[in-house]
Order: sequence, then C-alpha cells, then structure tokens
Amino acid sequence: KKLLLLDVDCGVDDAQAIMMALASPSVEILGITCCYGNTLLENVCKNVLRVLQVCNRLEIPVYQGAASPLLGGPVEGALYHGQDGLGDVPVPDAPGLDHLQKEHAVTALLRIVSEQPGQISLVATGPLTNLALAVKLDPTFPKKLKNMFIMGGNIDSRGNLTVCGEFNFATDPEAAYVVLNEFTCPTYIATWEFTCHNSLSWEFYHEWVNQDTKKAKFMKKITFHSIKYGKSNHENTGNHLWTSGFVSCDSYAMASAIDESFVTEAIETAVSVELNGSLTRGMMVVDMIGLLKKKNKAFVINKCDLEKFKALLIAALK
Ligand code: BDR
Ligand code: CA
Repeated sequence: KKLLLLDVDCGVDDAQAIMMALASPSVEILGITCCYGNTLLENVCKNVLRVLQVCNRLEIPVYQGAASPLLGGPVEGALYHGQDGLGDVPVPDAPGLDHLQKEHAVTALLRIVSEQPGQISLVATGPLTNLALAVKLDPTFPKKLKNMFIMGGNIDSRGNLTVCGEFNFATDPEAAYVVLNEFTCPTYIATWEFTCHNSLSWEFYHEWVNQDTKKAKFMKKITFHSIKYGKSNHENTGNHLWTSGFVSCDSYAMASAIDESFVTEAIETAVSVELNGSLTRGMMVVDMIGLLKKKNKAFVINKCDLEKFKALLIAALK
C-alpha cells in the first residue's frame, strides 16, 4: 500500500481530497496533520474529525499543528469555505476535540517519517507552515520522505488571495519559500491555474453529489456555500477562473499521490516564492531558464487524466 501523511487546512476541497484518499484501496493514511488556513485551527481540526466520522474512520490519528503563519498572527481564512470552513451547515453530532492526538503535528510528522524513511508520501493542501517548521526542527525530514504533493502556487502570476498570490502560498509566503527551497524529495505541485483549467462540468458535479450515500449527502451540504460564493464572485469580478466549472483544487494533489498515472505531463523546473514585492508577495516564481541555479527542482503538473480523476471522486462518495 502507498503510505500517506496528509497536512490540511480542512476546507471544502481538503475534505474532498481526504475522502478520496480514504476511499482508495491502494492507500494507507498514517495520520492527518492540521494547519490553520481556510478557517481557524480549531475549526480545521473539527472539520477533519467530521470527515473521518462520515467515513467511519475516526481511528486515523489527527494532530493539531500551527495556528498562524511564521510571521504575524492568525489569518481570517477563506470566505469561500464559510466561517467554519465546511459551508456553515448545522452539525449536531460532531465528534469532540478529545479525539485529537496529544502530540503536536510537527513532531508527529518528524516521528512518523523517521519510523519508515523513504516510504511515505506527504500531501500538503494548506499553507505550508507545519512543513516549514518540521524542516527547521529537523533538516533531514525532507530526505526521509518518498515524495511530496502540494496544492498551491501559480504558474502565470494569477492569484486568488491577492492579485498574484495563490491562497496556500500567499497565506504564509515564508513557509512556502522554506519548503520550495529546502525540500529535496521529489515534489509535485498542482497549481491554482492548473486546477482551474481542469475543472469538471456541473453535470458531473450533480451526478457526483446525488449518489444515494451518506457521504454524498454530506458533500452536497458542505459544498452549497462555496458554489454560491464562487458564482457570485464570478459575477462581481468577472474572474472566469472561478466558474469555468466545478473545481476541487486539493483533490488534484491527492489524485497525483494516489495514482502515478493521473499526471500525464509535468514540467521539471526550479520554483521559489516572492517574498518582497508589493504586488507579488506570495507569488510562486517559476525559473524555466535555470537562472536561480537551484539544484532541487519540482514537477509542476501540467496535464492530467480527467477520467481517472472523476473515477477517484465518484469512489470517494460511494
Ligand atoms: C487552495 O486554497 C484553499 O482555499 C483551498 O482549500 C486550496 O487548498 C486553493 O488556492
Ligand atoms: Ca486547502
């Protein structure tokens, strides 16, 4: 089985990605580490537990991690996901935070990876704060990973949090910088534009959430707010990337980790993050001509097999 560690800021698409991994028979999830991001850290932890509960998988260890970026205090979160990160639907029977592990997410990442060096894939779908802290505590951490899959950044400077910055990178630019510059394991990046350019049709979305299962009912409820928000954002701003169809950003990174054949084209290139620009802070920088002379390159995902993606999503709600 593929061994996965998931680092998430559990909003709606993180939930979709987690459910995809939970449903995949070829995958074992060793733990889920939580980072603030789409909502406050406490909500992120609650949301992960809610997802595990719906899937009857509360035995998977969940760890609480960073509550704010490396610089500055807590962030407001992404309105797209609702205040609570999962569309603000009533949750009478949510599991309590006593289900969380006592160990901190960052020490858990270091420990779990040291127990099986070279065997574990890390999938990161939130701000990269926990990962940056991990490599600063133990510089050998990246070497012990088999590989890493990140949802974040952008290729052509189109942002979604700031003019040029994608949410996960621009929320903690220093953390993204540390990860992109200090992680030596093979790293795959599903960027914001890549995910938008590979959106799915609304027909597919309806077929997906109208499956007659408990998981599909949960998904339909938690996605309602974000779809409404995305559509009104499109109408107000004319930003076509929002409504080109149904986009589950984090699920692309997860699908890449679950099934190697999902990625059909990736560009091997050095990448970094702008830390200083007044308009471009948090933007991913792609060094296609190698001027940064960086040794560690990343694979920026460019094309994928959407039929495989749809099959993984459908299975996630079965
Ligand atoms: C990313 O930002 C978050 O809002 C989503 O969960 C995803 O990880 C997309 O830019
Ligand atoms: Ca996310």
